[in-house]
Amino acid sequence: MRLAGKVALVTGSARGIGKSIVERFAAEGAVAVISDVVNETAARETLAGIEKAGGRGMVEMFDVGDAAQVDAAVARIVAAQGRIDILVNNAGITRDNLLMRMTEEDFDAVVRTNLKGTFLLTKAVSRHMIKQRGGRIVNMSSVVGLMGNAGQSNYSAAKAGIAGFTKSMARELGSRGITVNAIAPGFIQTAMTSSLPEAVQKAFLDQIPLKRFAAPEEVAELALYLASDGAGYVTGQVIGINGGLYM
Ligand code: NAI
Repeated sequence: MRLAGKVALVTGSARGIGKSIVERFAAEGAVAVISDVVNETAARETLAGIEKAGGRGMVEMFDVGDAAQVDAAVARIVAAQGRIDILVNNAGITRDNLLMRMTEEDFDAVVRTNLKGTFLLTKAVSRHMIKQRGGRIVNMSSVVGLMGNAGQSNYSAAKAGIAGFTKSMARELGSRGITVNAIAPGFIQTAMTSSLPEAVQKAFLDQIPLKRFAAPEEVAELALYLASDGAGYVTGQVIGINGGLYM
């Protein structure tokens, strides 16, 4: 098993890509810390599924954009598990609109959850990883952070910010044995994307050389690689998984 004995915290893992990641990590022997801000029932169901399959984990509900909640949750996890080896900053939201219609609240909310949340978690968890002399941090960027997307100025700015943050953290934390990478998914079939109008989905599909959207499990596979010992010399990278949509 590739993550035997590791403790992995994945934010926003009650559903979607985060859920696939905790399930995959637990199947590889990690203690999966499932965390989300809403939907504790779904988070507990995810844990029950992991335990039924013979895996281990726990649930911690908190808002990634709230520093006090983040610090308290990380302290509880370290108290319960003794350590955190892997952090996946996956929690994210969209509030799409064209610039002229985008409100300040929608801009701030998206930057708060996606970008500030990644900063707060990285700060709280890397403190422990530094003491442990090692760790793996995987941040969730997006293809639109690299190529832009009309109607997503807030989201693409936050996701491009995550790419820059990832590279700075890789430089700061590398000498401590901590790798920091980002995944930039293209179009993945989750609740976040199924709410997009059919015409928008078709327009994306036309531009994807592999002519299909991806399953969350395919992103989990890349997250597993980046979190594993085998990726020890990979850091500061923003790795696309997009069917060729952007290259
Ligand atoms: P999702 O909406 O299905 O899941 C996101 C989870 O994050 C939800 O369970 C939600 O409750 C949680 N969350 C939201 N705000 C939070 C907060 N303040 N604190 C803690 N948890 C919070 O989304 P999906 O599709 O699984 O996306 C996961 C990540 O992948 C996000 O960062 C998203 O931006 C990114 N992504 C998704 C793509 C896609 O096509 N689905 C493409 C590129 C990136």
